[in-house]
Amino acid sequence: MITRPDSESLADWVERTRQGIRDGRFPVRAFNDPAVAELEQERLFAKAWCFLAHESEVPEPGDYVTRYIGNNNIIVARDEHGDVHANLNMCRHRGNVMCKAEMGNASHFRCSYHGWTYKSSGELIGVPYMKEGYEGRLARKDWSLVSVRIESYEGLLFGCLDPEVEPLGDYLGDFRFYLDLYLKQGTEGVEVHGPPDHWIADTDWKICAENFAGDGYHTPVAHQWGFSLGYFPSSGSTHSQGWAVSVPGKGHGIGLGHSPNFPPFGGFPEELVEQMKQTLTPEQVEVFSRTRTAVGTVFPNLSFLMQPFSLVPGQAGVRFVTMRLYHPAGPGRMEMYSWCLVPKTASEEYKKEAYRAYTLAFGQAGTFEQDDFENWTKVTRSAESTMVRDLDFPYIMGMDSARDPEFPGPGHAVVPYVNDTNFRNLWSRWGDYLAGDQ
Ligand code: FES
Ligand SMILES: [Fe+2]
Repeated sequence: MITRPDSESLADWVERTRQGIRDGRFPVRAFNDPAVAELEQERLFAKAWCFLAHESEVPEPGDYVTRYIGNNNIIVARDEHGDVHANLNMCRHRGNVMCKAEMGNASHFRCSYHGWTYKSSGELIGVPYMKEGYEGRLARKDWSLVSVRIESYEGLLFGCLDPEVEPLGDYLGDFRFYLDLYLKQGTEGVEVHGPPDHWIADTDWKICAENFAGDGYHTPVAHQWGFSLGYFPSSGSTHSQGWAVSVPGKGHGIGLGHSPNFPPFGGFPEELVEQMKQTLTPEQVEVFSRTRTAVGTVFPNLSFLMQPFSLVPGQAGVRFVTMRLYHPAGPGRMEMYSWCLVPKTASEEYKKEAYRAYTLAFGQAGTFEQDDFENWTKVTRSAESTMVRDLDFPYIMGMDSARDPEFPGPGHAVVPYVNDTNFRNLWSRWGDYLAGDQ
């Protein structure tokens, strides 16, 4: 399908789009275009650090999950020595999918086609008719599963297909300051509370990544019922308060919403607040204590949200954290993975309450989730129509905003929370990758 003027090459379109982002515009078509989706596979998902799993999903030897980096299916498995490996989920003999389950525990992986067998590490250990068939010509060590580079930050396991990629710590950069707000909510960090909700949606991964990079703008409208029925401690008149923080050049961004009169660390049990004061730096405590909602995206497609949600309308909310991954599954289509993260050292009672709050708001049938996907799927449909071929969206809020000099955290922090600054930074990084300029 040709989606650009016939005379313009894809490379020229990318350059024109990059200039548009600098000027505060982004093309509608980018949200549902086969050529763009293909370029993202080659230039972005094959090059960037992509989230695979949380370490608490594979705690024991033999535990595994299968996930994606772009269009590559990856097995993440813990071996008998406790080390975690990432390998392409493809048998080296004739390419069968090795592991067909999404998660489990196995001492080894045996291919269902001709029976080649691999360890959790990916090492080939069994070949039927080795002597009779291969007559000494097959060296097992040359036919291990194809390994993927893997690194972790505070329990988050990322993989990258590019062996030349910068270390994960450099890739995350100053965004680690904000990731800690989700990941250090206790002296032993956080764990997943059960397997992720996982579903397929007719929408583009970028719409979700942008929304969670700090779209405070939609909340009083798309989730208005939450305000008016007393599930969510904010109001339309004050909802713009807070900061939008981006990490320039990296693409990562977070919205830190603030509500007047919302108590410091509101919605957290007292013992967890005490632990956070130990695990976080004084600057992080200052930022965190003032934050009602923290909603951020690690470029390209991993997001976090923390907010209070009232289990009974009008009563004090319970804080929960959701982590979500938007796996691109073709133009205008994605697979969502959505987890609830809880502090390991929290009481069982708080873990259950936080999971309940998460499920009501952001589980697969969650109320906020339904609101969002109703809008996101419609945006995606609009983006494939003929008339939008050369239309742009405006990204001009905060074009001239200076950094708030009083803000104690790193990155480019601007007020108000309702702002396009984070999105220009996100799409600017996306443009770098698509141009091969990362
Ligand atoms: S494809 Fe796996 S053993 Fe043949
Ligand atoms: Fe939303």
